[in-house]
Amino acid sequence: MNRKGFIFDLDGVIVDTAKYHFLAWKKLANQLGYEFTKEQNELFKGVSRKRCLEILLDIGNIEATKEQFDTWMVEKNIDYLEYIENLDESEILPDVPKVLQFLKENNIPIALGSASKNAQPILEKVKLLHYFDTIVDGNSVKKAKPNPEVFLLAAKQLGVKSKDCVVFEDAVAGIEAANSAKMISIGIGDKKVLHEAQFNFTDFTEISTDFIIELINR
Ligand code: BG6
Ligand code: MG
Repeated sequence: MNRKGFIFDLDGVIVDTAKYHFLAWKKLANQLGYEFTKEQNELFKGVSRKRCLEILLDIGNIEATKEQFDTWMVEKNIDYLEYIENLDESEILPDVPKVLQFLKENNIPIALGSASKNAQPILEKVKLLHYFDTIVDGNSVKKAKPNPEVFLLAAKQLGVKSKDCVVFEDAVAGIEAANSAKMISIGIGDKKVLHEAQFNFTDFTEISTDFIIELINR
């Protein structure tokens, strides 16, 4: 039995931040003169900030100069940071600390594998940073999910083989990334959306200790 590594996405897996990303993108769309819906926001999950803005501008049929594009990226992030300024433990998704604690007690290496450039401050705000042996985020990788770079780097930093890693993801792009890294992919959220995952759960309350032990002993 090889040593296993557990990799967690951040937004939508550990903490409920998708709604704040949504508010910030909606504000920008409204400013540019159009609507942005929750359904459209689904396309933004797991996707880099740059790619999100490209999609947002496509939706509004807006052509931007490089300067405008960069300004809007900065503005969106300033608004997002304002929305999450008071983020605290109450926004941790159900049973996440329980799973992290169980892994820690069993000396299983834990990594963050997130597209966000705001990952570290968010983990600090919700007081979960100490669980992570390594953080791989939007600042550490060049290629965004669905490219597997973020998870491959996390495995490398944990010193665990890719095939021995388990990935928890709420985004289609993230499940694709985990699958192409040949890792065990676990979808957290809507099974219909995340049907490419090897295992599906609505949230961590559905994940039993027995199932985690099974993953560790695979
Ligand atoms: C992902 C989110 O985790 O991070 C995306 O699911 C977001 O919606 C991406 O665009 C980048 O986040 P940030 O914080 O760097 O803008
Ligand atoms: Mg996510």
